[in-house]
Amino acid sequence: MTNADFTLDARPYSSDTLTVVPVLAGEAPTLLGSSDLGLNASRIEALGVSGKAGATQRILVAAEHGDGEAAVLLVGLGSTRDAESLRRAAGVAARALSKAADVSYDLADASAEEVEALATGHGLGGYSFDRFKSKSGDDESADAVQRVAIESRDEGAQASLAKARVIIGSVDLTRNLVNTPPNALVPEEFADRVVQEFADSDVSVEVWDEPKLIEEGCGGITGVGQGSANAPRLVYLEYAPADARAHVALVGKGITFDSGGLSIKPAASMVGMKFDMAGAASVVGVIRAAAALELPVRVSGWCALAENMPSATALKPDDVITMRSKTTVEVTNTDAEGRLVLGDALALASEVKPDVIIDIATLTGAQMVALGDRTTGLMGNDEQWRDRVLAASEAVGEPTWSMPIPEEIREKLDSPVADIVNAKPGDRAGGMLFAAAFLEKFIGEGESAQSIPWVHLDIAGPADTKSAYG
Ligand code: BES
Ligand code: ZN
Ligand code: ZN
Repeated sequence: MTNADFTLDARPYSSDTLTVVPVLAGEAPTLLGSSDLGLNASRIEALGVSGKAGATQRILVAAEHGDGEAAVLLVGLGSTRDAESLRRAAGVAARALSKAADVSYDLADASAEEVEALATGHGLGGYSFDRFKSKSGDDESADAVQRVAIESRDEGAQASLAKARVIIGSVDLTRNLVNTPPNALVPEEFADRVVQEFADSDVSVEVWDEPKLIEEGCGGITGVGQGSANAPRLVYLEYAPADARAHVALVGKGITFDSGGLSIKPAASMVGMKFDMAGAASVVGVIRAAAALELPVRVSGWCALAENMPSATALKPDDVITMRSKTTVEVTNTDAEGRLVLGDALALASEVKPDVIIDIATLTGAQMVALGDRTTGLMGNDEQWRDRVLAASEAVGEPTWSMPIPEEIREKLDSPVADIVNAKPGDRAGGMLFAAAFLEKFIGEGESAQSIPWVHLDIAGPADTKSAYG
């Protein structure tokens, strides 16, 4: 959770607040606050202040408000003052100052955009998840709300803070779902949490249970879910404002735990697989934000939820299943389950003919091999939409890289017994691209296949970056 309350009434350099001052790197590092704090070049050097991105120093200066001394945290921006460097620096500051009751940012002439960057950086960087820690009674600081004030004279700053609060709250929601252990977030529980979240809001939620999924022909979702004691669900969300100018459909992979099924994962690879619903959790968070920000866009979301387990009733390698789109799939590997649940959800999204479909999924280990744990792999069938999503990722500091779906990879989908296979046994080359080629089969309907622009985001790495951004 993020326990910060943001305001604009900063009182920097008082004895009862911790002041954060960003520092720009360069031949002579520059303090970007409203005061030079009496630090001339030689004292800056003596303190070892470099302005290097993520570097921090704590110093004491004479208080400007009240008596005594004021604590200051200098935090490096690197060599550029922009939204991304400020977000990261504020994230570093939030982690360094997690115990402080009052924090004031002093960035001279902070623009509204910079206020938003500092607030989102602080809010997102200060996140922690302790719901499952047994509290030792004396640790009250865990629940205390931190007051964070940012100095700005920009008229738009208040609106920036309001936007930052929405973004932080929505990312918190997504992160809390991702971090919740799989015994506390089976598909039914995930669906219930979404229903609760959007009760009394502009977002409508509809949940399909297992009998309904069978009735609707969602053989991918029911196939993956059939091996588990915890039945699958599909959650459909919709935010449809009267002034909507476009319709975006979001589809998320929601495997609440991925053991691999009968194609079981080795023990070490299974640890962390509670996160395999991060795509679905992102869909929920994005829709919360779109509604709270009253964006003039209709946003529909499909969360395809199942637990992938081995059992006497589980899907077997060699099984052939029939998907929502009537496409038949030979299951060659039950660990390639994400594409099965997504295939149904993509077909459902296609049926409502949105302007674009964007899916998000912790889909392949191959994504991490190719791009590491911070860069999302982006694929799709429409260059313009790929570019728009790339530009959006760039603007918010979420590295994303475009990857192809080559023809020769598409050809590997052929199955001797069904329409397509879900994996190519023994062939790991281009695993991320093969998965995308599989998903593409479910975009559009029949003859109109591929007529709907579609963007696929493989977030296997970025959904669990292991370490904080510095
Ligand atoms: N959930 C995994 C993808 C994954 C693997 C994410 C490792 C993060 C780390 C997915 O369901 C999966 O197991 N994919 C297989 C596909 C393969 C069997 C074709 C993979 O990537 O190994
Ligand atoms: Zn898997
Ligand atoms: Zn998976």
